Amino acid sequence: MPKYRIALMPGDGIGKDVMEAAQIVLDKIALDAEYIPADIGWEFWCTEGEPLPERTVETLKSCDCALFAAITSKPKEEAEAELAPELQGQGLTYRSPIVRMRQLFDLYTNLRPCKAFKGNPLNFRDDIDLVVFRENTQGLYAGVEFHPLPEQVRSALESHSPRMAAFEGISSEDVAVSCRIFTREGCQRIVRAAFEYAASHGYPTVTLVEKPNVIRETSGLMVREARKVGQEFPAIELWETNVDAMAMWLVKNPQDYGVLVSSNMFGDIISDLAAQLVGGLGFASSGNIGDAFAVFEPTHGSAPKYAGQYKANPTAMLLAVKLMLDWLGETDLAQALERGIAAVIAETTFHTYDLGGENTTLEVAQAVADRL
Ligand code: IPM
Ligand code: MG
Repeated sequence: MPKYRIALMPGDGIGKDVMEAAQIVLDKIALDAEYIPADIGWEFWCTEGEPLPERTVETLKSCDCALFAAITSKPKEEAEAELAPELQGQGLTYRSPIVRMRQLFDLYTNLRPCKAFKGNPLNFRDDIDLVVFRENTQGLYAGVEFHPLPEQVRSALESHSPRMAAFEGISSEDVAVSCRIFTREGCQRIVRAAFEYAASHGYPTVTLVEKPNVIRETSGLMVREARKVGQEFPAIELWETNVDAMAMWLVKNPQDYGVLVSSNMFGDIISDLAAQLVGGLGFASSGNIGDAFAVFEPTHGSAPKYAGQYKANPTAMLLAVKLMLDWLGETDLAQALERGIAAVIAETTFHTYDLGGENTTLEVAQAVADRL
């Protein structure tokens, strides 16, 4: 029996292109693994009303981890219009499958390294080496939202918050509420993951990115827990910044920062900013990591207009494979893969269009494989 069972979820659009690229590299390194293809994405929403079918959830439960590429998602009304006729009018709502997987499998850490590879013409600066730890299951992504505001929720809010007086006389039809939910444990575990990573990878600081001066309760809880967890790591300094200022500092002095940690939505935003500093989403990978399971993905979307054209830069997907190898404990393979990726970027012989080259997704992946 192979050592690992790994689910492969290409999804749609360029997801399929970059998953093929990943397979070229996986074949080359001959990881002792069985790969199980699994359905996910837009076509399953249209034909089954479910972009993450139950059979895929079952497959995932039987695997050690998964590689996921990209899927299309569309706003509510557009999504409903594309459902098969027999599925329309049943009140089905499109929910992002990646967000669902994060919650279903309690993948509370979203690890997003953003490193400037030597010779990447798209680097904003050449000395950037940031790693974003984004809380991945709570906050504004908890999915607790109301519109119109139900009477019970309204009266609970009115009796608990004097601020609700400002909404007096406004109809519940005209109020929408999205809850930002943090738990103490949720804060502790993401901060601890960030500190542990800083400690094991030689980063001297962890920067907490929140907004406690305004969002007092949730950000406040995160700050207090971060200070407590920080005491367990006396060699690592905890820096605290507000998210807005962080956006500015990341553009001004990105080289000053190492590990960043933030809640779900702020982490989502900050990690796109950090990705663009090192070449954009073509270079950004994520690990969605829980205690027992993990899903690795490039951060980019499915870019439907490029589907099947093999134009997309496979680097983000290959870096996701690298994160997976690290997580599996295959550290030597992970390092070799990163060296291969770095070499292809530095050599400039095999580059996709975003880097000014003319090579295809698969040619670049093959070039990386050849250097392993
Ligand atoms: C990301 C993406 C997702 C998110 C979308 C596709 C739901 O932006 O992984 O950063 O918001 O988390
Ligand atoms: Mg995002």
